[in-house]
Amino acid sequence: MCGIVGYIGNSSVGPILFESLSRLEYRGYDSAGIALLNGHGIEVHKRVGKLKGLIEGTSQLPLRGHLGLGHTRWATHGEPSETNAHPHLDCQGRLAIVHNGIIENYRELKERLLDQGHRFQSQTDTEVIAHLVEHYSRSLSLRDAFRKALQELQGSYALCLLATDDPERLYGARLGSPLILGIGKNEMFLASDVPAVLGRTREIMYLNDREVVELSQNSLQISTLDGNPIDRQPSRIDWDIACAQKSGFKHFMLKEIHEQPNTIEQTILNRLDWQIQQVRFDERTNHFLERLSPDEQFVIIACGTAYHAALVGEYMLEEFAEMAVDVDLASEFRYRKPRLNRHTTVLAISQSGETADTLAGIRLAKEQGAKVLSICNVVGSSVARESDAVLFTHAGPEIAVASTKAYTAQLTVLALLTMYLANARQLLKDPEKLQFFRTFRKLPELARLALNAEADIQKIAFFYADSENFYYLGRKYNFPSALEGALKLKEICPKIHAEGYAAGEMKHGPIALIRPGWPVLFIATDSNVYDKVISNIEETRARKASCVVIASEGNRSIRSYADHVIEVPKTEEIFSPILTAIPLQLLAYYIADLNGCDVDQPPNLAKSVTVE
Ligand code: AGP
Repeated sequence: MCGIVGYIGNSSVGPILFESLSRLEYRGYDSAGIALLNGHGIEVHKRVGKLKGLIEGTSQLPLRGHLGLGHTRWATHGEPSETNAHPHLDCQGRLAIVHNGIIENYRELKERLLDQGHRFQSQTDTEVIAHLVEHYSRSLSLRDAFRKALQELQGSYALCLLATDDPERLYGARLGSPLILGIGKNEMFLASDVPAVLGRTREIMYLNDREVVELSQNSLQISTLDGNPIDRQPSRIDWDIACAQKSGFKHFMLKEIHEQPNTIEQTILNRLDWQIQQVRFDERTNHFLERLSPDEQFVIIACGTAYHAALVGEYMLEEFAEMAVDVDLASEFRYRKPRLNRHTTVLAISQSGETADTLAGIRLAKEQGAKVLSICNVVGSSVARESDAVLFTHAGPEIAVASTKAYTAQLTVLALLTMYLANARQLLKDPEKLQFFRTFRKLPELARLALNAEADIQKIAFFYADSENFYYLGRKYNFPSALEGALKLKEICPKIHAEGYAAGEMKHGPIALIRPGWPVLFIATDSNVYDKVISNIEETRARKASCVVIASEGNRSIRSYADHVIEVPKTEEIFSPILTAIPLQLLAYYIADLNGCDVDQPPNLAKSVTVE
């Protein structure tokens, strides 16, 4: 996920690009760059790190001109560096481009362009687009060359292009990544999101997939990839800037919860090979996994929410890949004397890739001769750099302190990894394999359906907002879900004491606290421990607890055991924690919001724990 902007108008371009980019920084912040047409050619400025560094570094420069592009990056291909930062240029520096998305066929295109003599500066997928347009512009107008290049791109893109040969126009195009147009007075904008332009205009148009736009200072023309013109009217936006940055959601946490169908889809994208019915990762990771020994042992280390994902991963890998798996909190693992050897893979899970304890665990693993594989959301982070191979979650930047979309992306990657290893070990029969592949494809839609319970959850939250305590109980795959549900609530609503337990453990202690009306949330989705969970519900109801039950859609009989029921779509047990996470997140969110809590930045917590 990255933020892009483009401007053409009669104001000085530098400050406008910076203002717009600052409103898109939530989309990525590992590097930033701008390109402007200054009357002599294209002037480019880039910096690694947040936009602030670029603004400070160019504060003494005039940055004049009436046409420019900007980009704030969330690295996907190539580590965060000045060379990999956008904008990217063609060989002659006559055109500049910014991009949000992933060009899946960039390797083939790059090889072809290299053979034709093009010289590349970066490791990005984006740079191929600049060279491809350059290639076609030798025989075509810029407009046609851009269109021709777009027809060859596979994957997703929102693009903005300017060129010295066409100094009165700005071009944009979209496929799968967002792009909006802002129509101002004697000025036009392109941007990834509405907030980028709200300081200058509220007249907005949305570009659809496979559409191209050509902007001048006072006109715009939208057309299809084949060049057929499209007539579209602008709409007027009523949001204020603060609201719009969250796309209309009250908090980043709620926005990120709602992004999950999309982030799950991004995480699966390009990783299912239907032809051979196998999961595939990037070359380095495939190579790493291919070399694992038949008796390889996994030790999964992580902290907080990522640790809960690790616990689910243990169930997955044991059941389907028949592997020996241990899970440890990274903060404990680093001070133990673990017995590791060259047949051990330490699997580190971290959203930020900067958690100090997880990094220390990785270093200990390496000292002891183990291999390190990681699941991480941030390209170029310390965890990613120090691992032998990385499985990236493509969840985009997570702003809210409470992790939501990164967690379900981690679970999705763990399920993909499990499928890969189970398949490689020939442990799956063809029908079972096919069924899993089908469910992977349906997962984003299932997540979307899980969000449908939101209105019911809001009502349930109202009922429990004044509680002082909350128990969360589940078994097997949904035991870690119970831990995660309780963590979400205690993180963002510190007024309520919440604990998660394995439901079977209740009678060994925690049940002692239950009083009439004590809230207990059970996760009782379809599984081979369903009846056991029902017995646990009975035990708590016998003590007059108030029970909320998350159950599989269509389970009518559950209503006689529950005060409140939340339904999630039916799925195989291995995938169910991905879906049950969603109502757990929503319930915590609405209870915290009703209590007036600072949901996105709860007291005493930080997004990334880079200290011990
Ligand atoms: C999650 O809601 C928390 N903010 C926290 O537990 C977090 O998961 C933990 O600090 C690990 O962070 P990481 O995934 O960035 O390593």
